[in-house]
Amino acid sequence: MAHEFTSVPKLFLFLIISTLQISSIKGDYITINYTQRLDHFGYYGDTYDLTFVQKVFLDDSHWAGAESGAPIIVLFGGEAGHTYGPEVNGVMVDSGVAFKALLVHIQHRFYGNSIPLDSIDLAMADHRIRGCLTTQQALQDYAEIIMSLKANFSAFASPVIVMGCGYSGALAAWFRLTYPHIAIGALASSAPMLYYGNYTQTDGFCDIVSKDFEDFNPKCHEWIRKSWEKIDEVAAQPNGVEHLSHAFNTCRPLQSSTEVKQWLGQQYSFAAKYAESQSTQLNRICSILLSEEYHPFEGMLHALQGPIYNAHCFEPLLIEVESPFEPPTNWTTAWAWQRCTELVFPIGCGKPTMLPSQPFDRNSFDKWCQKRFGVSPRPRLPITFLRGRIIGETIQGFGGNIIISNGLRDPFSSGGILEDVSKTIIAIKTTQGSFCSDMDAKDNLYPDPKWLKQL
Ligand SMILES: *[C@@H]1O[C@H](CO)[C@@H](O)[C@H](O)[C@H]1NC(C)=O
Ligand SMILES: *[C@@H]1O[C@H](CO)[C@@H](O)[C@H](O)[C@H]1NC(C)=O
Ligand SMILES: *[C@@H]1O[C@H](CO)[C@@H](O)[C@H](O)[C@H]1NC(C)=O
Ligand SMILES: *[C@@H]1O[C@H](CO)[C@@H](O)[C@H](O)[C@H]1NC(C)=O
Repeated sequence: MAHEFTSVPKLFLFLIISTLQISSIKGDYITINYTQRLDHFGYYGDTYDLTFVQKVFLDDSHWAGAESGAPIIVLFGGEAGHTYGPEVNGVMVDSGVAFKALLVHIQHRFYGNSIPLDSIDLAMADHRIRGCLTTQQALQDYAEIIMSLKANFSAFASPVIVMGCGYSGALAAWFRLTYPHIAIGALASSAPMLYYGNYTQTDGFCDIVSKDFEDFNPKCHEWIRKSWEKIDEVAAQPNGVEHLSHAFNTCRPLQSSTEVKQWLGQQYSFAAKYAESQSTQLNRICSILLSEEYHPFEGMLHALQGPIYNAHCFEPLLIEVESPFEPPTNWTTAWAWQRCTELVFPIGCGKPTMLPSQPFDRNSFDKWCQKRFGVSPRPRLPITFLRGRIIGETIQGFGGNIIISNGLRDPFSSGGILEDVSKTIIAIKTTQGSFCSDMDAKDNLYPDPKWLKQL
């Protein structure tokens, strides 16, 4: 019972974590170690004076300079903590060239190399420190850095445009709404903003994953849909769960077949998230699954492990907290904290789809967070700003200059804003698009954003 309870909410906990393996920066970026205040808002004893180093990456190779008032384009880092090189975010580079802009990428606090106490273990173990990991603190970080940058470059006339992908896309939109005097526009790519702050269960995610596979190859879809039974059958035999642990090469023994099903569900979802840009991956997965060459479990392992992981049990890239499929790590603790405090994703698979049925259960999610961090979710900021599903009514009339883009093949688009909110808060959606595909360097799906043209 206990393990059932703890394992339920972990489904899709990894979610927005992007696993692009980009850590080296190409191009002309320079790094700034910005000394950031840990707590922008409180004046309580111990944390009041604490600072940490926040990494900022600058590329001024296209910039026409402060005198000309050329724009500053800021990419917000998110939970992946990666340092994005220009070749990844082609929209940055293209805009840099087109608008002679200064390109800036700022890491998010507690991710990448921007970690308080220089140790994610120490930072997350200390309740006063981890309490400073909130979206509001992160937005204030960005504001401080952008203002400091403008002052240092005397770039007071340069308009600032912010962008982000996934969670950081939502941050970009929130930033524009919160600090309209600092940023004149925002691009929020693949930001599932309707999830945040709303506990209403959403089935759409699993529908889209399922549909991506079905569209790609109906046989493959059917194979996966039927595969869960085989796993349960094996698990029901004597030593069956042990056998599964062995077959799936887990880092610690599985407690139930649910764990392996969750992991597989995540892997399929991940493949679907990038279905457009990595359709080679769907192709690869499906051709291995359908081939007669492997035992089914061996095939799954091979199909899903291959492109992402290497070697003995799994690398902690495709991140789930305390997963039996990964070596123990605290890498993901910060994201789990955010998920357990403000960024609740009420995603579940209620209706039958290709994925195992697993409705989102708010109670067990809350309990899981209690157990792990001693907190219950309090999704304040998203509710304050965006009011879940009634975003239109909320921001119409005061916000503007926001582009919200979604690729409909991305399962997260089920939580995206897909219709224009107003004349200047516009939604762009592409039927064939995947997660943040509009930020890609090559073959941009979209023309330059309209508000950029307005500049
Ligand atoms: C920033 O910090 C890193 C790590 O401490 C150090 O190696 C690097 O030299 C610093 N960069 C600057 C510009 O101070
Ligand atoms: C995670 O952090 C805690 C608290 O510092 C530490 O005790 C634990 O060993 C860390 N776990 C791993 C796998 O590093
Ligand atoms: C601006 O200059 C100050 C003083 O040299 C420095 O401490 C700060 O880090 C700079 N800010 C940025 C964003 O580079
Ligand atoms: C979440 O969405 C539902 C359905 O639209 C709505 O009734 C509810 O009030 C929302 N909850 C919050 C916290 O915004």
